[in-house]
Amino acid sequence: MSQAVTVVSAANIAFIKYWGAVDLDAAVPCNPSISMTLDACRTRCTLGPHPDGSAATEDLVLYREGETDLAPATEAFAGRVRQHLGRLRARCGERDFVRVATTNSFPAAAGIASSASGFSALACAYDAWLGRDSGATELSICARLSGSGSASRSVMGGYVGWPAPDAPEHPAYPLHDAAHWDLADVVALVQTEPKRVSSLDGHRLAATSPYFEKRLAELPRRTEQLAGALAERDWTTFAEELEREAIDLHLIAISSTPPVFYWKPETLAVLERVRRLRDEGVAAASTMDAGANVHVICPRADAEAVAAALRALPGVARVIEDGVGGGPRRVDEPVG
Ligand code: PMV
Repeated sequence: MSQAVTVVSAANIAFIKYWGAVDLDAAVPCNPSISMTLDACRTRCTLGPHPDGSAATEDLVLYREGETDLAPATEAFAGRVRQHLGRLRARCGERDFVRVATTNSFPAAAGIASSASGFSALACAYDAWLGRDSGATELSICARLSGSGSASRSVMGGYVGWPAPDAPEHPAYPLHDAAHWDLADVVALVQTEPKRVSSLDGHRLAATSPYFEKRLAELPRRTEQLAGALAERDWTTFAEELEREAIDLHLIAISSTPPVFYWKPETLAVLERVRRLRDEGVAAASTMDAGANVHVICPRADAEAVAAALRALPGVARVIEDGVGGGPRRVDEPVG
């Protein structure tokens, strides 16, 4: 337990969204969700012994933004990491405080699931540091202890469902591995600063929408359709359900009390461009998480055409070309 370990874990993009919780603190969702684990949008997390050894009184949490130097994380971020570590320690019967250093390959808190990749990486790194080799189910439960439900899906590669039906402790489960369908996710960043309303607050407000019950009633049909289309690689049905689902999440957000507007005018411009791309014969469909940025899902062969079209839009600050990935892995290079 004295050697620091480094783990890389990617974000995921939900095709069917977790929005609204039965128990928000424990991240127990109102509805099942389906996601694709990404590859390039990832968190790297190094976890090791605390420099103060047994004299340490709390976990040391460091963060590196882009190419800047490693520095103490903000209190808000460090607080969530310490809370997660406290829960991991309690589950594993451990006591020692640790040093954690993390960095993201993409802007945090902007609708690309930085909490998913971050807390998945933390749970996997803690497990590796303890010298355990817990399987994906246990790691998924550990990642969810962070309070980020989507983190429970990022511990697995490929296509993932959550929660597993009738499984105690609500773990995610694998649907298909990454080789099943080579889908790309071309992310149009129209906002790179943190969003004003966190997804935690969005979940909290979801049930105040007069349309929330209707959404829950509709979801079993949509989830089955989308899961079937994913299994069959039926692009047309997949794309239709994907877009409907994303709009539905934002309908709930906008009709919550108080309303939450994640979209920016540029978001709509991207959605409109994707529609025109389809008219031009490019297979592409949009989805958005709790943020203004748009994830354009397409077969890998269409990714270049999609990226070029999005880059040409004036409101798009940056385009990230990502796609389905293989899940967390240990690496040698620490976050320094
Ligand atoms: O895992 P959380 O609490 O950050 O919530 C995720 C919410 C969405 O990204 C909007 C949907 C999802 O299922 O990932």
